Amino acid sequence: MTEKDSRHKGGVEARRKRFALAMRGLYEFLSLPAVTYFLLGGPRISQWYGLGWWSKLGLVYRMYRNTKRIETGTSFRAHVAMASKIFAIPPKTEGVIVECGCWKGGTTANLSLVAKIVKRRLIVYDSFEGLPEPAQGDRWAHGFGTGAYKGELEEVRANVTRYGSVSSCEFRKGWFSDTIKHHEEPVVAAFIDVDYQDSLHDCIRHLWPNLIERGWLFIDEYSRLDYCALFFSEWWWAHYFDRPPPGLMGAGSGIGVGHYFTGPLRERTVYQAPSSVGMTRKDFYGMWDFVPEEAGMEARPYGRDAWTSTARLPEEVAPEQLAKVLQQQQSQEGS
Ligand SMILES: C[S@@+](CC[C@H](N)C(=O)[O-])C[C@H]1O[C@@H](n2cnc3c(N)ncnc32)[C@H](O)[C@@H]1O
Repeated sequence: MTEKDSRHKGGVEARRKRFALAMRGLYEFLSLPAVTYFLLGGPRISQWYGLGWWSKLGLVYRMYRNTKRIETGTSFRAHVAMASKIFAIPPKTEGVIVECGCWKGGTTANLSLVAKIVKRRLIVYDSFEGLPEPAQGDRWAHGFGTGAYKGELEEVRANVTRYGSVSSCEFRKGWFSDTIKHHEEPVVAAFIDVDYQDSLHDCIRHLWPNLIERGWLFIDEYSRLDYCALFFSEWWWAHYFDRPPPGLMGAGSGIGVGHYFTGPLRERTVYQAPSSVGMTRKDFYGMWDFVPEEAGMEARPYGRDAWTSTARLPEEVAPEQLAKVLQQQQSQEGS
């Protein structure tokens, strides 16, 4: 290939990339009404919090705009998805919202807007010094990352004051290993975006006991399957909480919030970008508990019955299906 040919090829590729990025931006903007309708639909939000269609759209637009104004590692779609779950928690239920890992406060600003509407406190944990020194054995921690994603407390506070509701926030500065273990308030929802395995471990270990019975836990690192595996790790949940793993919705590509990302992350092209979250709930059950006879071992002691299944169980569905078939038969016989 001549130099001229390769310059031409480079130019075409750059144009294609610019076009794909523009299309992604356009899609993001045009989908705001759909995101509002599908994620924040339903009368309960309106009844509980007096939010009509236009206020919901206004909120979503503000959240979208905030992610353009404050440098952030997450998407407004993820923020709206979290809002949808927080809005669905009855106002009478006691509890705070928690964010672990805030960087410049992009998510904090948006969660603070939600916190203000639902009249809950948003507690923000961060070192405000960026990522820590890597712990031994942490595959996702790299020496060169120490101090990365630093947002100073004053900078975060200023961003949230300007774009969110700073009066709804409480900032708790320090390394998670020193701060989170002292967390005491009941938690209705927690968002964890902390990059390192060691940091995630500390956050889950100490926040989980404070999550309310049906409290939500969201993570940003859903596109790394081995990171998501914590939520399916039988040894981890048995060891720390003597319970089955809760599982993680959206493991690998995020929950469905209208984004285009099929994964895996390392093979992604400019056409796709992850812009979602992974999530689980305190009462979920995400364990493979079928033990075939050939394995010659006892089943685990945890029964499914004590947990909420993420789909309706066959025994719940069967009577309805039977009734439907009988009804069809009767109407056929009658005609
Ligand atoms: C990727 S950034 C968070 C991005 C942010 N959620 C957003 O939406 O823009 C990761 C954050 O986690 C914090 N962090 C990670 N490990 C920590 C630890 N062990 N203790 C305190 N802060 C930690 C870093 O300071 C950083 O602010």
